[in-house]
Amino acid sequence: MPGGSFNSAALAEEVDVVIARANGSKLYDSDGREYIDCLNGSGPMVLGHARPEVVEALRKAVECPSNFYVLNETGIALAEKMVEAIPCAEQLKYGLSGSDATFFAMRLARAYTGRTKILKFEGGFIGVNDYALMSVTPATDAVYPTPVPDSAGIPTALQDQVLIAPYNDLATTVAIMEKYQSELAAVIIEAQHRSIEPAPGFLEGVREAATRRGIVLIFDEVVTGFRLAFGGAQERYGVLPDLATYGKIVGGGLPLSAVVGKAEIMDLTNPRKSSSPGYSYISSTMSGNPMAAAAGLATLNVLSQPGTYERLYELGDRFRKGTRAAFERHDLPVQTLGSGPLAQLVISDKPVTDYRSSTLGDKALHKKLIDAIVARGVVTHGKFYFSLAFSDADIDQVVSVIDDALTAILKNRQNLKHRD
Ligand SMILES: Cc1ncc(COP(=O)(O)O)c(C=O)c1O
Repeated sequence: MPGGSFNSAALAEEVDVVIARANGSKLYDSDGREYIDCLNGSGPMVLGHARPEVVEALRKAVECPSNFYVLNETGIALAEKMVEAIPCAEQLKYGLSGSDATFFAMRLARAYTGRTKILKFEGGFIGVNDYALMSVTPATDAVYPTPVPDSAGIPTALQDQVLIAPYNDLATTVAIMEKYQSELAAVIIEAQHRSIEPAPGFLEGVREAATRRGIVLIFDEVVTGFRLAFGGAQERYGVLPDLATYGKIVGGGLPLSAVVGKAEIMDLTNPRKSSSPGYSYISSTMSGNPMAAAAGLATLNVLSQPGTYERLYELGDRFRKGTRAAFERHDLPVQTLGSGPLAQLVISDKPVTDYRSSTLGDKALHKKLIDAIVARGVVTHGKFYFSLAFSDADIDQVVSVIDDALTAILKNRQNLKHRD
């Protein structure tokens, strides 16, 4: 594997780990070393590892570990559960990854509107398809709405199809929507964008501007869905999109994703109407496969129990409060982004409201900190995903590791200064 990684992220070589097994809030590497897991599979494992209800559902499903392609009972049961829980969902179509879901949703919006351009927000990660990988981590401040591709190999023609706006800047966003309205099919947004809270009125303003101009509003709920609330970000913020994309949690750790939304739009994927002009081709061999659906359904069943979200929010708040106190002890500023079981740190005294303000933090210190906490037994790639398996003591241990790592880094810095 190039760089010894399955993904686009790699831990520092000296702290790289190979996972052998996992249970609850803990991971164990090939040498038997225990870690607290703040990565949780990059989000799907919101219940923690080997949660008995999920294991039991998979044990039953594995008696016939098949894919059917046509409808199956478990896939239908999960779809029903999702449509019941998600405020904007009238119908659903499955995919396998979050990137599938955002790709399908953008195509669907184009089919529905007959327009081609997509507006996304600077710094927003909405998957790895060619439309999505624009201005996720631009190194330069391009003039809005010009996109900066994040990867080589993306057709240059697509740069013309993606418009970039600054998150939380309603005036600039609406001005771009207005200027391009006759070509703009969709606005796709993470309502809580990269753990940054929406400013009061921002989502409502985007919703209103989209409705007025016949633009499809897509909420990317791959991270926020079933995490910020059972009904996702749309429930938490009380703003309804036309379409929403789901991944991560809904497969319970197995590959499964979905596009949901208004029946009027979703029906364009109806294969019984494939000869009609607006037909939008959305399909996948493993769509709704019963193994992933069983894991997803068992996960949602646990999440729908009373008290779940109160507990997830308690855990996140305990982490944010403890981390702020740890930074204060070291006389360092920190912004603790995110709400509920999601957190991200920016080492800065400036409030973070969008991508550009998120880049003002001390990135070198942040990288050192992440490497140092992994070396001390806490796994994360920079974002913290907490699970229901966490105890208060786990959170306190993570905070204490952050504190200890900061002590070591600052001491090292001091020594280097003396040597100079
Ligand atoms: C908001 C958001 N959308 C889409 C995706 C893509 O999901 P996947 O990695 O399953 O393709 C991610 C992945 O982290 C994400 O964070």
